Amino acid sequence: MKKIIIAIDGYSSSGKSTMARDLARRIGYVYVDSGAMYRAVTLYAIRHGIADTDSGVDTETLVRSLPEIGISFTPAGADGTQHTLLNGEDVEKEIRDMKVSSLVSPVAVIPEVRHRLTAIQQEYGRDKGIVMDGRDIGTTVFPDAEMKVFVNASAEERARRRVKELTEKGEKVTYEEVLENIKERDHIDTTRKESPLRKADDAVLLDNDNMTIPQQMDWLLRLYEDRSR
Ligand code: CDP
Repeated sequence: MKKIIIAIDGYSSSGKSTMARDLARRIGYVYVDSGAMYRAVTLYAIRHGIADTDSGVDTETLVRSLPEIGISFTPAGADGTQHTLLNGEDVEKEIRDMKVSSLVSPVAVIPEVRHRLTAIQQEYGRDKGIVMDGRDIGTTVFPDAEMKVFVNASAEERARRRVKELTEKGEKVTYEEVLENIKERDHIDTTRKESPLRKADDAVLLDNDNMTIPQQMDWLLRLYEDRSR
């Protein structure tokens, strides 16, 4: 079997990250959560007063600050999870909160931010044997990836999943607030000029509204076996 690149793209909260992480663990590949990188840049911007919910994002200052923003990951633990580091600090929990979620898509439209993160992501893929999830992995980051999956589920189902996930982590959120954030990010992500979210022509569509996690894994493993032959 040859080592390949696996690109998993799709809408917010479609379950891509869990799917990509579990797949990587099953087949012994490296997993990279590209959304976590956009979230870490956003957290840096919030902490430095460069982005806030009232005044939005100060693009010029953020672009100037990019060389000071170091993003990396801890090695995967036994369960496959890895933590995101911002200039060496573990920010895994903080990057998932609603404040970051509400500012990440406006940060992710900035071309300079995308170029910088794309270059880091491509470097991770140099030796193949990688599963990366995001919005533009099969279109922009790895247009030649051997396996591309585009995941979708209805906005309502995605909001239900995200509320459950955040509530389990102790965050107090309402279904309406999460649904609104998901719809808003879908809109920004699909209509931005630079690398908008779209299905690559050669990506396989996975509509997982009515699929269990084991069914989804079987589906992915079959596709992986086919593509790595
Ligand atoms: O986990 P969730 O689906 O909510 O989102 P994420 O994967 O953590 O990504 C957060 C945001 O980062 C997305 O809504 C996009 O605006 C942006 N993003 C992007 O533009 N390109 C990527 N490759 C990954 C994320």
